[in-house]
Amino acid sequence: MNRIGIIGAMEEEVAILKEKMTEVSVLERAGMEFFSGRLSGHEVVVVRSGIGKVNAGICTQILADKFEVEAVINTGIAGSLKAEINIGDIVLSTDTMQHDVDAREFGYAIGQIPRMDTLTFPADEGLRSLAVRVCREVNPDIQVFEGRVASGDQFVADHGTKEKIIQNTEGFCTEMEGAAIGQAAYLNKLPYLVIRAISDKADDSAHMDYPTFEKEAIRHSVRLVEGMMKAL
Ligand code: ADE
Repeated sequence: MNRIGIIGAMEEEVAILKEKMTEVSVLERAGMEFFSGRLSGHEVVVVRSGIGKVNAGICTQILADKFEVEAVINTGIAGSLKAEINIGDIVLSTDTMQHDVDAREFGYAIGQIPRMDTLTFPADEGLRSLAVRVCREVNPDIQVFEGRVASGDQFVADHGTKEKIIQNTEGFCTEMEGAAIGQAAYLNKLPYLVIRAISDKADDSAHMDYPTFEKEAIRHSVRLVEGMMKAL
């Protein structure tokens, strides 16, 4: 794989990667700054998309069209949807799904975008197995899970909402961009992977845990992305 696009929703999620890049040039599109250069020797384009599905979808399309990336990696943090997935652990996407798409009125399942031929957006198995291997090396003390990432334009911070998302998606974690990146990657036939470190449990404790653990979780995810670029 040659040029790889790396998306983080928030500046905190990409700042360390940008600092570590060499041969950097910057181009602005749609209010987003795209940093082209090398990370651990590999050609990358690192960008802060902004928060939410629309920003993430637009960002992925620009990476495809303007930068002709060969794969997209999304790095960031998420709320856990499983009791055994703890703060600091990593979830790697097997696939992604939008928990806030609801066209049941027309007979579609929650998450199903009407007239699209797929309910979830399968992530790339090669990128995922590389991430599993590298994660065990660079983050030896944390657990790595492989499962579905459930995305929506919603910060999930109460038990009831969390339970509904689990029921509807069987997701391992929830965040606000992954499935939009998945959808854009699917439409462009681009391999992609979502890497999320857990910052909170997406329940009533989320508003306390999120600010406390955000930085540590970001470090886990960033370390993994850097390690993957070295290994590629
Ligand atoms: N990102 C990190 N934690 C989250 C949560 N609980 N809901 C949505 N996005 C998140």
